[in-house]
Amino acid sequence: MAKPNVLVTRMVPQENLDRLRERFDVEVNTEDRPLTREELKSKVKGRDAILSMLTDTIDGEILDAAGPKCRIVANFAVGYNNFDLAAATRRGVVLTNTPGVLDDATATLAFTLLLSVARRIVEADKYVRDGKWTGWAPLFFIGLDVDGKTLGVAGLGRIGKNMARKAAAFGMKIIYNDVRRDAELEAALGARFVDKETLLRESDFLTLHVPLIPETHHYIGEKELAAMKPTAVLINAARGPVVDEKALARALKDKVIWGAGLDVFENEPKVEPDLLGLDNVIVVPHVASGTTETRLNMGRIAVDNIVRVLGGQPPATCVNP
Ligand code: DGY
Repeated sequence: MAKPNVLVTRMVPQENLDRLRERFDVEVNTEDRPLTREELKSKVKGRDAILSMLTDTIDGEILDAAGPKCRIVANFAVGYNNFDLAAATRRGVVLTNTPGVLDDATATLAFTLLLSVARRIVEADKYVRDGKWTGWAPLFFIGLDVDGKTLGVAGLGRIGKNMARKAAAFGMKIIYNDVRRDAELEAALGARFVDKETLLRESDFLTLHVPLIPETHHYIGEKELAAMKPTAVLINAARGPVVDEKALARALKDKVIWGAGLDVFENEPKVEPDLLGLDNVIVVPHVASGTTETRLNMGRIAVDNIVRVLGGQPPATCVNP
C-alpha cells in the first residue's frame, strides 16, 4: 500500500523531517522563500497532510486543490490567522498549531525589544560603528528606566503571562487587559486587571499579545497612540495588523510616544517605509520564536499531530471550532 503523502511548505529542522520520512512520502519546499499561491495550489494536490507555515493562506480554495484525501493541515506556528477555520471544518480537515513551546522564546524577544528600545541599543551600536563616538558624556544616549515602571499587557495568554513574569523580575508593576481575568497571576504578581483605556493611559511599556482576529485588527491606532504617555514604548511581537503601522510611524515621528519595538508587520515582509527612517523604533524580521530548541519543538508538535491524525487518532492541539 502506498504511504501517505505529506507536503512541507518550507524547510523545517532536519529532525522533524526525518521523523516524517520514517512513515510518509514527504515533499519539502527547499527554496529559501514561501511557495507562491499558485505553487501552493499545485503542490497540495492529492496530499494526505500539509505541514504549513504562517505565510501560507490555507482557505477553501487551497483545501479544494488538495482534494478529499487531505485530513490535516498542521501549522508550524502558534498563531493561525492564516487558516480559514470554517472552510476547513466544513471539509472535515483538522487544523493544528504549536502552543506552549514558544512562550519563553517569544516573550524573551519581546522583552529584549523592550530593553533595547528603552536603552537605545541599536542606535548606540550604530553610533560606535560609524566612528562617531568621541568619549563619555553625561547627556549622551539617555534612555528610559525599566525597573519599577508599569508594564501593560494586552492579551494575557501564555506569552503575555510569560512576559509579565519576566517583567516582574525587573520590579515592574503589571497591569493587563484581556477578555477574562486571571486570579492566579493577580495573586502571584500583584497584576491588576484594567480596561483598555486605563491600559493605554497608565502603561510605561505596552506589550501586545492578542491574537489577530477581526476585533483586534488595528487594536492600536491613532486614537490609542494619542491616549498613551509621551514617554511610553509599544512592543508588538503578536501580529502586524494589530497595529496601524502608518499611525504608529506618525506617532513616533511626532513623539506622541517615545519608541517602539516591532517583530511583526502589517504586510510582511514589507515594512512601512516611514518607520525605517526613524531612530526610535527597532524592527526585527518576525523572529520571536527563532531559537534552535523552540523551532525543533514547534516542528515536533506539528509532526506529532500529522502522525496522530493519519494514524486515526485525534490531534493534540486542534484549533477547529
Ligand atoms: C507563531 O508561532 O505564531 C509565531 O508568530 C512564529 O513562531
